[in-house]
Amino acid sequence: MAGRETLTPAEFDFIRGLIRDYAGIVIGENKRSMVQGRITRRMRELGIRDVGEYLDYIRTAPEIERDGLASALTTNVTAFFREIHHFEYLTTQFLPSLRGRGLRRIRAWSAGCSSGEEAYSIAITLMEGLGDEKGWDIGVLATDLDFNMIRFAREGVYPLERVGRLPPEQLKRWFLRGGGSQDGRVMVRPELKRIVRVMPLNLLEEWPMSGPFDVIFCRNVFIYFDRDVKARIVDRYAELLPVGGLLFIGHSESLHGLTDRFELIGGTIYRKKQ
Ligand SMILES: C[S@@+](CC[C@H](N)C(=O)[O-])C[C@H]1O[C@@H](n2cnc3c(N)ncnc32)[C@H](O)[C@@H]1O
Repeated sequence: MAGRETLTPAEFDFIRGLIRDYAGIVIGENKRSMVQGRITRRMRELGIRDVGEYLDYIRTAPEIERDGLASALTTNVTAFFREIHHFEYLTTQFLPSLRGRGLRRIRAWSAGCSSGEEAYSIAITLMEGLGDEKGWDIGVLATDLDFNMIRFAREGVYPLERVGRLPPEQLKRWFLRGGGSQDGRVMVRPELKRIVRVMPLNLLEEWPMSGPFDVIFCRNVFIYFDRDVKARIVDRYAELLPVGGLLFIGHSESLHGLTDRFELIGGTIYRKKQ
């Protein structure tokens, strides 16, 4: 017998509530067809044909399927050097100021890194800006809630189209061209991978790292969250940054009215205040 795939209004609300409590992701009433499509796909992955059966599965094994559900419902759109002015600011302003203060250590965090392009773009920027000088200790942490994205980011293998806009010399310096079964793909070079640590992390839960970070990228992640969650997370970022440390958010996001611990430099770049 064919199962029922269509969510009832109550089931839609149950799923919205669950993902909000677990990941802070707010899904509007108007997203019913998006949720329906993603749940149907998730059920197929699991070989479940009836939505009632899928919800029973979530209820009986929430600690397992919450992650699957989160992965199904999140949007992972990203790109290398997305919002290029953020990377240019690092190169032209921030790195020279660190150097000017005689520092030789830099730590960056890509929070909500998706498939890793943002973290590797940061790593390339830091290596190009500092890596030729002796003695720099460079580290990039990349975290995301979505385990599928964590796997992708750890592998660091991308279809050629995703790196198509990089200047050829940058592509050659930081990526290896795949051959055979990897034809049409590139792999991040080991010397870049070595400085990027990828780990799963739900921003709503405990953060095992104690920082400090000099730079935090949390771009196009806040769009999902409500005001309280955003304010709480921004406050936790402030705890991990020194005075003068930078927080980068997405071009359609703002910290306006959420915090008085940061000042806006411009271009959605914020600096931690005294
Ligand atoms: C649109 S992508 C942004 C990727 C990258 N930061 C960029 O701007 O290109 C948003 C990412 O945030 C992640 N995300 C959503 N809620 C999260 C949470 N509570 N904790 C950690 N990551 C989360 C999603 O899994 C997704 O990969």
